[in-house]
Amino acid sequence: MQPRRIVITGCSSGFGRLMAEDFARAGWLVLATTRSPESLPQLENLHVLATDIADGHGRKAVADYVRDHWNDALDCLVNNAGFAVNGAFETLSDAQVKRQFEVNVFAAMSLTRELLPALRQARGRIINFSSVLGFTGMPLASIYAASKFALEGWSESLYYELQPQGVQVALVEPGGFRTKFGQNIEWGDANGSAYTAQIGSFRNFFERRTQGTGNDPAKVSKCVIELASAKHMPLRTRIGADSHGLYFLRRLTPQRMADMILRAVGRRLQGG
Ligand SMILES: NC(=O)c1ccc[n+]([C@@H]2O[C@H](COP(=O)([O-])OP(=O)(O)OC[C@H]3O[C@@H](n4cnc5c(N)ncnc54)[C@H](OP(=O)(O)O)[C@@H]3O)[C@@H](O)[C@H]2O)c1
Repeated sequence: MQPRRIVITGCSSGFGRLMAEDFARAGWLVLATTRSPESLPQLENLHVLATDIADGHGRKAVADYVRDHWNDALDCLVNNAGFAVNGAFETLSDAQVKRQFEVNVFAAMSLTRELLPALRQARGRIINFSSVLGFTGMPLASIYAASKFALEGWSESLYYELQPQGVQVALVEPGGFRTKFGQNIEWGDANGSAYTAQIGSFRNFFERRTQGTGNDPAKVSKCVIELASAKHMPLRTRIGADSHGLYFLRRLTPQRMADMILRAVGRRLQGG
């Protein structure tokens, strides 16, 4: 049987790196994109493409590889690359907001469009990395949450739109996991602003959740392999107790009660 072919974006660290290695070890042919190719090990089945998926030339290089090496057929695309621009909305520049959407949303959309003919040919699937902040807003993370909410609306619509084409679409919604995510956050400059105290307290919390006290990222890689191999993918998969807990509050608890709890949590996170 022909090995299955997968493209994974953002593979120098975190979930991307683990998935690139785990899928290759599981016998998939993997094309891993990264801006730092030296970070990945040499493995059979793993081809590393040095590229920035936020750049049009980078995305074309991915499509060229799929056409030239895989006969323009692709079994799975994982839009994983992403980062957070955090801080008080008022202190963030237009350039920071645009960059957040360019990497987390527009790059995934453009790459998906480029690869859709190959995905259709193989009756393939698309797995988009959202977040617990793809269904819950959070103070001082408004732009990151907005980018993940955008990814959710787009993916949910594609889930139905691509069904007749034989292409499945899924969202994964992790809570806080130990990756380089916390280190890679770009914080707005709150110095001297009305938000200085709030930011200090929130920053500690956010960095703790994506480092020491965060969940084990191997869980996420394992879950994505299961999704990619299942006969039918559910639209949404939450990973981590924090993601399940917040989902319960947001979607299954009466709205007034959920708001009361989340406002109290929000105040605590901001040192109130
Ligand atoms: N860790 C968490 O707690 C958590 C929770 C919910 C959702 N997520 C989501 O999971 C995905 C993977 O994150 P991770 O936790 O594995 O974090 P990570 O270790 O920081 O890895 C993120 C990857 O995204 C790419 N990336 C980061 N900033 C970029 C930029 N400015 N331009 C282009 N590419 C960029 C990088 O790829 P290269 O350097 O290889 O190019 C990097 O390998 C992201 O979409 C993130 O939003 C993470």
